Amino acid sequence: MKASTASTVGNILLTEEQIQARVREMGAVLSREYAGKSPVLVNILKGGFIFLADLIRSMDIPCEIDFMVVSSYEDKGESSGVVRILSDLGLNVEGRHVIIVEDIVDTGLTLDYLRELLMARNPASLKIVTLLDKSEKRQVNVPIDLVGFQIPNEFVVGYGLDYAQLYRNLPYITVLNGSQLLDFAAGDGSGTRNDQR
Ligand code: IMP
Ligand code: MG
Repeated sequence: MKASTASTVGNILLTEEQIQARVREMGAVLSREYAGKSPVLVNILKGGFIFLADLIRSMDIPCEIDFMVVSSYEDKGESSGVVRILSDLGLNVEGRHVIIVEDIVDTGLTLDYLRELLMARNPASLKIVTLLDKSEKRQVNVPIDLVGFQIPNEFVVGYGLDYAQLYRNLPYITVLNGSQLLDFAAGDGSGTRNDQR
């Protein structure tokens, strides 16, 4: 199993052009909403790093960025909602306008936990932006302020999103086919994993 940009992987759900156009729109929306403010964009590593990089280059207001590394205990590929902070923010977000920048919201469990955690630090405001929303899978109702694309309940990779840490480098978002998923399942006998997202 090799992630390569030389040939197309899986069935493309969102092309590079579609993603780039939507991310530019999202940057413009945020620039308008936060005009006159200097928000802190909090990116959840690893999956959101490419989205953040493109998003901030579409914003024409002063903004800061910071990162959190979290690990969620997964059961059969599903998030359990038990989140461990592997690396916390460097910035103090008290009194700041915080925007959480996520790659994808699935069950919502991870984001629900992070939202509570950051709210306890008394930001001036807290909004959530995600590139992808797989709302069919939602288990907790976490408020999302800006969504790039609603997607069906399929496992997608590319543009930062991984499968077993691979495929993040694809410039498009694609659904892996059955044999690509089976390759992985064959190598994962444990059921419970602890994975940096
Ligand atoms: P949840 O919302 O707590 O279930 O977890 C969301 C996290 O699970 C995301 O930040 C991703 O790391 C991962 N995830 C969920 N769905 C997908 C997918 O389709 N492809 C890749 N990663 C996914
Ligand atoms: Mg992941």
